[in-house]
Amino acid sequence: MQKKKLWMILGLVVFVSSTMLSVLKNHTFLESVIKDPVQMGTIVPCSGFTGEELSRYVDQNNKPNKILEAGGGSGAITEKIIKKLKPSDVLDVVEIDPNLCKILRDKFNSYKNVKIHCCSITDYSSPYKYDYIISTLPFNAFKLDFVKQVRKKFEELVNTGGCLSYVEYTISAWKQYLPFIKDKDIKGVVNYLSKDRSTHSAEKRIVWLNVPPTYVYHQRM
Ligand SMILES: C[S@@+](CC[C@H](N)C(=O)[O-])C[C@H]1O[C@@H](n2cnc3c(N)ncnc32)[C@H](O)[C@@H]1O
Repeated sequence: MQKKKLWMILGLVVFVSSTMLSVLKNHTFLESVIKDPVQMGTIVPCSGFTGEELSRYVDQNNKPNKILEAGGGSGAITEKIIKKLKPSDVLDVVEIDPNLCKILRDKFNSYKNVKIHCCSITDYSSPYKYDYIISTLPFNAFKLDFVKQVRKKFEELVNTGGCLSYVEYTISAWKQYLPFIKDKDIKGVVNYLSKDRSTHSAEKRIVWLNVPPTYVYHQRM
């Protein structure tokens, strides 16, 4: 039992240090965090495990799918989605930070069915609707009004029966229970999203191997 615990702790230490190391190598992500921590909502990119969870439903049918990723960052989740793409699928990635957009374009330029759109998700429009929307936007760092705008945009962009998968960082969700946190918006955002999920019979999963651990929600629209 002791030995098992020791291995778990060792594994966790290796995972956290390798994540931190990848952040130090990923200058642009770090610069964006320093420039606008609210917009980024985290200090490290999501892990591959979160990417796997977020893209869980992407390859579950044989028809050509349209997929939208909101908040592409430096492409941690994009890479996972691309692994599941069929040649007939289309992936549109929306990212607001021009420096991160450049990284995304450099990385994924060779994929003909992947397009990078450099704008806010709230200003994004598309001639078609999406079967899957995958979002790592840091909802709990945003103001409630903005979260409502984004949610409305997702509704506008998704096909009926389509799937919305998104993250909620556990630490920011737990913040609402701390007595010294006066921010009413965090409570408002958590309540708003929770109410929204209850009307869409959402599925909740937790990804421990992410810094910080994160909830992933999948909801049918
Ligand atoms: C938590 S980071 C996740 C980045 C990346 N997907 C990952 O997993 O590492 C959130 C990303 O959303 C982007 N973002 C924030 N607000 C946005 C908006 N209104 N429209 C589009 N992207 C936005 C940020 O610039 C940042 O890259």
